[in-house]
Amino acid sequence: MGMLILNAGEIAHLDSISTNSPISGHNMTDRESNVYSSGMGILIEDSKIKSISESQSLQSEHAPDWDGEFSSSSLSIIDAKGCAIIPGLVDSHTHLIWGGDRSSEMRLRQSGMSYKDISNIGGGIRRTVSRTRRMTLEEMVSIGLSRVTEASKYGSCAMEVKSGYGLDTETELRLLEAASIISRNSEVSIYPTWLGAHDFPPEINRSQYIDELLSVQLPEVTSQGIARWCDVFCEDGWYTNEETESIVKQAKEMGLESRLHVDEFGDNDGLALAAELGSVSADHVAKSSPESRHKASEAGTMQTFLPGTPYVLGSNLDLPLIDCIENDWSFSLATDYNPNCRMLSLPLVANICCTRMGLDPLAALIASTKNPASTLGDKNITGKIAVGGLANLNIVWSSDVDGWCQTPGENPFTQTIISGNIV
Ligand code: NIG
Ligand code: FE
Repeated sequence: MGMLILNAGEIAHLDSISTNSPISGHNMTDRESNVYSSGMGILIEDSKIKSISESQSLQSEHAPDWDGEFSSSSLSIIDAKGCAIIPGLVDSHTHLIWGGDRSSEMRLRQSGMSYKDISNIGGGIRRTVSRTRRMTLEEMVSIGLSRVTEASKYGSCAMEVKSGYGLDTETELRLLEAASIISRNSEVSIYPTWLGAHDFPPEINRSQYIDELLSVQLPEVTSQGIARWCDVFCEDGWYTNEETESIVKQAKEMGLESRLHVDEFGDNDGLALAAELGSVSADHVAKSSPESRHKASEAGTMQTFLPGTPYVLGSNLDLPLIDCIENDWSFSLATDYNPNCRMLSLPLVANICCTRMGLDPLAALIASTKNPASTLGDKNITGKIAVGGLANLNIVWSSDVDGWCQTPGENPFTQTIISGNIV
């Protein structure tokens, strides 16, 4: 059955460029080319958008007897009552599946310990690893599915999901298998990434683990076809640039593209390395230099900012988002959902950017839809609202599309539609 959405407020269609390329620079704040004024409607058929047109003409053609409540039309009718509509959100960086509880780390941070200090006493990633290794496949699927459902309430229709809390072949594969089961059982589209190089396991030495990554994990992951990208935590104290390069190059030879964790706590030229290696995305990039940003832009490597992490760690919220707009560097936003940053809401991430870094809410929307979608390589997930595309939409509480990210403690969406179905 089809669906007819009538009486929309503003519609952020983001279809100013017809390709799947990201939108950058001042085009990110151009309402003229990215937003329809109120009074439009959307016709959905077979999970796709059939037409976007004047609400009144769509109604006369498809539901002439609709009286605001009832109609004999076979379409299910949604009266948007003047509320704005935005595309389904795309979260391109999550650590979705893990077990345990790291609540005690807040007090350690407040006592002055850094992320690295906490890791050095066995907290952080390794603590989560010891709990995650004990999880069964069923437990991983169940916890992952409940988190995906929660994310969909905050408007996410597509999510990248990383492994990385196994740090041994068996658990890394179990995490990726769980991601693929979640993908088959959820309306939300799931895109898996192998992050075996998230940290070093306690039981073997550094070079032994790198050997395991390259000669056991990677071949298993690629032969099972259960990941689309490889990721490495390339940061001082974790994987060096040289180690990152050898993992990414070998993964590429075996058919896996990369998206990397770089320059989170310091500028290690990780973004420049990602650009040289042709990574689709370089994430965190909080401390990268302007030269590296320029290089990434030239190479087509997306800069993905993860403001939730400095927020929960209590560090400065000074990501250069406005510089990216001024310099025409493409960028995305993502949640980085993980045991330390339990943020599944992209509207909250965008709210932090707007209230603390001066980002325009429309630019924040583009960075949470069209731009991350361009890194997923899936022609069905475009992060825009266009005829012929999948009907992934969010109806906002406000008539103004900018209202999508201005309710930090409240859900801004009254309805979320994925592939033409209300979730
Ligand atoms: O992207 N920095 C590396 N990985 C995650 C955090 C992982 C954790 O603390 O469990 C991140 O922030
Ligand atoms: Fe991360």
